[in-house]
Amino acid sequence: MSKQPIGIFDSGVGGTSIWKEINMLLPNENTIYLADSANAPYGTKGKEAIINLSIKNSDYLIKQGCKLIVVACNTATTNAIYTLRQKYSIPFIGIEPAIKPAALQTKTHAIGILATKGTLSSELFSQTSGLFASHIKVIEQVGEGIVELIESGQLNSQEMRSLLSIYLKPMIDANIDYLVLGCTHYPYLIPILIDLLPNHVKIIDSGEAVARQTKAILEQYELVNLSKKKGTCQFFTNGSPEVMTTLLDSHFEVKKLDF
Ligand code: SIN
Repeated sequence: MSKQPIGIFDSGVGGTSIWKEINMLLPNENTIYLADSANAPYGTKGKEAIINLSIKNSDYLIKQGCKLIVVACNTATTNAIYTLRQKYSIPFIGIEPAIKPAALQTKTHAIGILATKGTLSSELFSQTSGLFASHIKVIEQVGEGIVELIESGQLNSQEMRSLLSIYLKPMIDANIDYLVLGCTHYPYLIPILIDLLPNHVKIIDSGEAVARQTKAILEQYELVNLSKKKGTCQFFTNGSPEVMTTLLDSHFEVKKLDF
């Protein structure tokens, strides 16, 4: 069992930011990454559609023998993780925006959250926000159009910079000192965000915490791969392999798949 891969899925290429953290912390684990880019973005879809797509992705990964699945997509986590945990017997790890650390550490009592409409309107998000951030000002912003630009290979475009400038303005005006990235595509924007934000604003994403949680769950369920060899890493997409390749080390091959 321990040699079976960890499955990771996302609505597209963004979850590779999570895969990188997992691979860094757990280099001996075999991994299979699945990008459902043909159906991206998930963030504009309704709950039922997000659940159905998450089931389709999980079925595929389970057929490949995955021992645990990381839902490397905030929108799929906030809308579908409960159903996935009910439906399958293997462990599922999800991703939620890191509101808690930002809310605990803010000095200006104002934080910004950039996420999809699907995440910001979810019940899980409002519960977490109510629990940890009710005492501070939270500026929520839907990152409309960002995932589409990344999925079409326009990460460093002028259009991306213009969109982000618009989205950050109300946060800068409110004097935020933390910006929470609530979508796994967004860590790829960090160089642009650093450029656009005042120096004192810290950017938080959930990648490292998810990798630590993955390690803890593997240990708890005695699923750790005890091999001393580097694990194998397979990448599949039903979108453009070229776009995903630009986000990975060049020696990784991305395979096109119809699913
Ligand atoms: C999306 O597909 O809209 C974004 C995925 C995410 O929320 O991480």
